Amino acid sequence: MVNSSVISGFYKLSPEERLAIIKETAGLTDDEVRLLENTGSLPIDVADHMIENFIGVLPEPMGIAVNFQINGKDYLIPMATEEPSVIAAASYAAKMVRDGGGFHTSSTAPVMIGQIQVVKIKDAQTAKKQVLNSKTEILKKANEQDPVLNSFGGGAKDLDARVIDTSMGEMLVVHLFVDCRDAMGANAVNTMAEAVSPMIEELTNGRVYLRIISNLAVKRLAKAWCTVPKEAVGGAAVVEGIAYASAFAAADPYRAATHNKGAMNGIVACVLATGNDHRAIEAGGHAYASLNGVYTTFSKWIKNSEGDLEGSIELPMAVGLIGGAVKTHPIARIAMKILNVKSANEFAEVLAAVGLAQNLGALRALSNEGIQRGHMSLHARNIAVTAGAKNELIDLVAEQMVKERKVRVDRAEEILKELNQRPS
Ligand code: MEV
Repeated sequence: MVNSSVISGFYKLSPEERLAIIKETAGLTDDEVRLLENTGSLPIDVADHMIENFIGVLPEPMGIAVNFQINGKDYLIPMATEEPSVIAAASYAAKMVRDGGGFHTSSTAPVMIGQIQVVKIKDAQTAKKQVLNSKTEILKKANEQDPVLNSFGGGAKDLDARVIDTSMGEMLVVHLFVDCRDAMGANAVNTMAEAVSPMIEELTNGRVYLRIISNLAVKRLAKAWCTVPKEAVGGAAVVEGIAYASAFAAADPYRAATHNKGAMNGIVACVLATGNDHRAIEAGGHAYASLNGVYTTFSKWIKNSEGDLEGSIELPMAVGLIGGAVKTHPIARIAMKILNVKSANEFAEVLAAVGLAQNLGALRALSNEGIQRGHMSLHARNIAVTAGAKNELIDLVAEQMVKERKVRVDRAEEILKELNQRPS
């Protein structure tokens, strides 16, 4: 067992050497080590260069949500998730939306914000003016950092400065607005923010500390909306139930967190499958939902004058088609090929539609029969596997547990035992 977590030079070792140490200190069995050594479709040398201290991979199931029609185009949505009901719910919701003409979407230009924090300024308002007066030179310096981005029409386009009050006094916060085109943009933005900081220190006579992208990407928004005929959603009472659910979440942060989590179930699964940064999307989405000072929802459902359901979603969507794991991870590349989007904007819009579908799937179940029935039948298969069921026994054990409404490992073990004792 672990005596000390200090392992000097761990990062310099090969994956095999690291694994040998972890095997020893954590008391792993040979079988456990073999599982870690099997990196499947992610080659060891690729994985070892993606992160530090690499010892193995965590495979997660990837599936395809079907039925999506967005702006008249059909999409297959790759999703990586450990939650059993996510893909089924998204596919089901997309089918309902399809009956109403599919999803419609829009997005802003892919502009990210780079923040530069300036402290120890004598007169913050004068410093702000100095920065704003030197906008052209600052943007020029920023753009010298990334000629490739410039050649694609991107780059630092504008800047702003705000004086904020903090527990350590006034600070000037400079915002660089960078059009990142088809990149998520963190590298480009951070490089630019660092490069212009000496100029900003000189202009303000202040001290720059943080120079970093903001995940509250209010200038990189994606929207999706749809109309679902009441017949497709399950009738007038379900439409009403979903509208009430939406009003509840909009007014109550406790519910809004779960409502938004439901949308994120779909968004994050797709973002993860494509090797993009899902933490950035989650942070941005939740911060956007709090912009007015109280946490609320980033999606909304109402009953329209025909009695049909109308839904919309809007949130920051900083995803890219190039850079990082999107290009280096072989499965992420395949996921991108399946998704078949031509720009980061198209990708962002698809994700907004996926979030809206996932949200609808959850709300429809919640305002109708409740989610446990659907969840439990899918969850039951996991429990059957946990109890040791294999092949066709997985479904047999799961079905029996659902029929009995006893989805528990102890019951799965009993059923498995009974099935194994059957004469063949
Ligand atoms: C579960 O992962 C997601 C839900 O809780 C979302 C919701 O309540 O809207 C079902």
